[in-house]
Amino acid sequence: MLDEIEKIEKETASIHFADAESLEQFRLTYLSSKGKIQHLMDAFRNLPGEDKKTVGKPLNALKARLEEVYKISKQQLTATSGTENKFDTTLPVSSMATGSSHPLKIVENTLCDIFYSLGFDIADGPEIEDDWHNFGALNFADDHPARDMQDTFFIGNHVLRTHTSSVQIREMEKRTPPIRLVMPGRVYRNEAISSRSNCFFHQIEGLYIDKGVSFADLKQTLYYFVQQFFGEGTQVRFRSSYFPFTEPSAEMDIWAGTDTEENRRLTKGTGWLEVLGCGMVHPNVLKSCNIDPEVYQGYAFGMGIDRITMLKYGINDIRDMFHNDIRLLSQFAGL
Ligand code: DAH
Repeated sequence: MLDEIEKIEKETASIHFADAESLEQFRLTYLSSKGKIQHLMDAFRNLPGEDKKTVGKPLNALKARLEEVYKISKQQLTATSGTENKFDTTLPVSSMATGSSHPLKIVENTLCDIFYSLGFDIADGPEIEDDWHNFGALNFADDHPARDMQDTFFIGNHVLRTHTSSVQIREMEKRTPPIRLVMPGRVYRNEAISSRSNCFFHQIEGLYIDKGVSFADLKQTLYYFVQQFFGEGTQVRFRSSYFPFTEPSAEMDIWAGTDTEENRRLTKGTGWLEVLGCGMVHPNVLKSCNIDPEVYQGYAFGMGIDRITMLKYGINDIRDMFHNDIRLLSQFAGL
């Protein structure tokens, strides 16, 4: 019997229970009425008196220790499973704080959707550009005063792109016509910061290169876009303009009205909001990208996203969109 006691001592010397199930198994094996301890106790009763003396002490000690192990382990397991039980899976969940899209992103996505529905793909390019893609290939002569139209931030011999027109060049260099793309992104200009202008803002560039593309195609596409984005019946006007990379060039305004303080401020009191520059891609630009202007023509446009976002949501200071103020952002939750 002493051997048996010793064997059980060994088996249970450093026993550990991972879960209630293994603890219960332990109880059944050693401590239950049919367990090993009870079995020893029964056998003990039939021992001759002499033997009882030698076996009694270690047997009692073993029994007491195993009972203690059981008790402590049970307490520990109940304590941990108590933590698990604190999660009542039947309770209704409290709603998670989710983020919201920034109003500029909402508008950018809407613009992309509209042009995508017209067959335009979406592309983007780097914000740090070289002179060629931002200016040279777009027909800005080295000493051309048109470079002054855009107050450029320089980084060594690179620039922070002043417009998304640079992406037109990158895409024309890579692709062969027909090319139909919109290219949204952030642009930078060293401008005085005010409620209407910032040192960075957002544009979406459009480009369509194919055989037989005309200014009428450009106007019709933009007209369709305006009706989709600003609503049926929105008035537009085209004013002739100048850009080195288009010929002829125009700017398009939409009628925002003068009925609210915000609209008067946004339109400088005229009611007309300038939303984009556009034109027929200059033959020199096509040549810079190895596209033969005798075969292909195309139109391009570049639209400011910030102002139309302000108009759409009645935001009257461009800077408000960049404070990361949760009170502004949360108004766009779910849009
Ligand atoms: N890049 C011009 C700007 O930032 C906007 C522009 C005008 C883009 C005419 C064009 C265009 O693609 O054809 O002021």
